[in-house]
Amino acid sequence: MDRYLEQNIKDIIAKYPGVGDILNEYKIGCTACAAGTCRLKDIVEIHNLPGAEEEKLMGRIALAISPKGGLKVPRSTRKAPPPSGALKYSPPLKRLVEEHLLIKRLLALIPRFVASVDLRSAEGSGLARGALKFIRAYADKYHHAKEEEILFKYFDGGLDVIKTMLQDHVTGRGHVKAADAALAAKDGAAAAEHFIAYRELLTEHIKKEDEILYPWMDRNLTMKQVGELFNKFNEADEKFDPALIAECEAVVTGLEKLLGAAETSLKA
Ligand SMILES: [Fe+2]
Ligand SMILES: [Fe+2]
Repeated sequence: MDRYLEQNIKDIIAKYPGVGDILNEYKIGCTACAAGTCRLKDIVEIHNLPGAEEEKLMGRIALAISPKGGLKVPRSTRKAPPPSGALKYSPPLKRLVEEHLLIKRLLALIPRFVASVDLRSAEGSGLARGALKFIRAYADKYHHAKEEEILFKYFDGGLDVIKTMLQDHVTGRGHVKAADAALAAKDGAAAAEHFIAYRELLTEHIKKEDEILYPWMDRNLTMKQVGELFNKFNEADEKFDPALIAECEAVVTGLEKLLGAAETSLKA
């Protein structure tokens, strides 16, 4: 089994499609991953299954590769991760998880926003531009910049998990740009489409970071690196205009009030 652990997962799946089905069952989405250069052992490491689960998964993969048996499944040395819902993060990564909360509040508003606001009107377009300003300033320049320019630099940029996260950021920027252009062209349907696509992308992206990427990073950072990260995040935050952060928070609370009120008046 050891030689397969060192092999690229996409090559293994191409040769043994059953392996992709097994990984999908474990919600490890290698078949849908666009990058595809992770080794099998990276995948096992990144997803941090409890030891017994890992051995079961590896046993099934071994059988999918060699149905007659004969592949020796390595014993897992992994300790059980904390139960879900009880994830513990180091202080710098906890800060990023907390920043996700404000982004998720904006994402949660998007379906109601595009369904109840006329994006072709001056008022609707103004509100949409406020949401885009939040995404550009808070989600991208404040939050994604700390990931890209600081956190991700501590890891091998050639790993799929990092490349996929960076690609999500790029795709997100594309949706923001396209939504902006659609608003300028008074094409409400296209603007709504890009807002929805951005929501879907970022919702999944944040879930992957909170549940898989950050815990994996925390397991691989030394205490010294955690301290460094904490200081570098502080320095980055100090350079950021606090008035802009306050403005971004106000965009979210303003939309929450507006859409909450719109929902109440629709129900009335
Ligand atoms: Fe990210
Ligand atoms: Fe993030």
